[in-house]
Amino acid sequence: MVDPADFPILSRTVHGEHPLVYLDNAATTQKPAVVIDAMDAYYRQNNANVHRAVHALAGEATDAYEACRDTLRTWFNAERVVLTSGTTEAINLVAHGWGRAVLKEGDAIVLTEMEHHSDIVPWQMLAKERGIEVRYVPVLPDMTLDMEAYEASLAGAKLVCVVHTSNVLGVRNPVERIIEQAHAMGAKVLLDAAQGAPHSRIDVTGLGADFLAVSAHKMLGPTGIGCLTISQAAFDEMQPFMGGGDMIEHVSLSGSTYQTNEHKFEAGTPRIAEAVGWKAAMDYLAAVDLDSEHQRLLGIARWTAEQLRSLGCTVYGRHGDEDSAVVSFLHPGIHAEDFAHLLDAAGFAVRTGHHCAQPLLHRLGIDSTVRASFYLYNTMEEAEAFVARVAYVLERFGR
Ligand code: ALA
Repeated sequence: MVDPADFPILSRTVHGEHPLVYLDNAATTQKPAVVIDAMDAYYRQNNANVHRAVHALAGEATDAYEACRDTLRTWFNAERVVLTSGTTEAINLVAHGWGRAVLKEGDAIVLTEMEHHSDIVPWQMLAKERGIEVRYVPVLPDMTLDMEAYEASLAGAKLVCVVHTSNVLGVRNPVERIIEQAHAMGAKVLLDAAQGAPHSRIDVTGLGADFLAVSAHKMLGPTGIGCLTISQAAFDEMQPFMGGGDMIEHVSLSGSTYQTNEHKFEAGTPRIAEAVGWKAAMDYLAAVDLDSEHQRLLGIARWTAEQLRSLGCTVYGRHGDEDSAVVSFLHPGIHAEDFAHLLDAAGFAVRTGHHCAQPLLHRLGIDSTVRASFYLYNTMEEAEAFVARVAYVLERFGR
């Protein structure tokens, strides 16, 4: 595991003297001091706009911004990397930059019931505007995708959009098979890897993913930045959907031409300090053995899930070998939000609600869960303290 002392926020207390036990990592992760310091140093020493002026600071800012892209290109083994504000904007870039350029009335795209709202709503908007058919792959009672229905949905589809790892269940989908079958039917694939990328190295070229969307803040980086990796073939089909400075080659009153590289999808002043912070986070992550961390965190999640079940909770998720350390649960005697308040009162930070995945919760027949999600700085001792607090709350309320 990483050293919790690397993360300044983890030494604080909440509601008096309760040590913070941060278990809301699927919502956002905490930042190591190296990330905070890198952003601070950038603003103190290098701040300037990128790709514009010839002065020293402008050169330093441009190099720092592009260094983030280079790091991501290597990390994901990607052909193209467009920096966005996060996963949501990355998916919207596919919808508006690729979808609008390629999809015509009557075309079909395939989504799943497991998607986050950010991988549903942009497609519904485009479908309404363009007359596109949206097909949804159901989730089975064992909380996996119905792969037979998936295969059947592919006939004539142009794009498959699928979540790599569910933010509610931690279930990692069989993305290798999904991509292979989609490509065999001539469809491109967009992976929402907001939850998958923090837990494992993803090789997009090896996988054959045409698009992959991620957020920095779920993998120790700052909020406000993410990226879309794009295969060269898909990149060549895209048109910019945001116009403005930096993305152009030439502008006249009769029309404009665009840059040919990633800049054509990054109109306006980009997130420069955030790129500096994200690069620092990726350098920090590069020193972590993500495979062994995955096993450690999965062990903690499995143990927690088992304990919660023995306390009468229903746990949503299966914690298979490739799944993430997310434990979503409910107790029949206590509303999820009340549960979260009672946990928070003792310093345990968890998330409740529909987790921006209402169709999935609808399929599960619920409208909310309590979700504990573990990351690199969490320990077994924290899980034990968490389970003890859950047991205390249940006992105190006579459940
Ligand atoms: N999508 C994020 C979550 O699952 C915000 O909490």
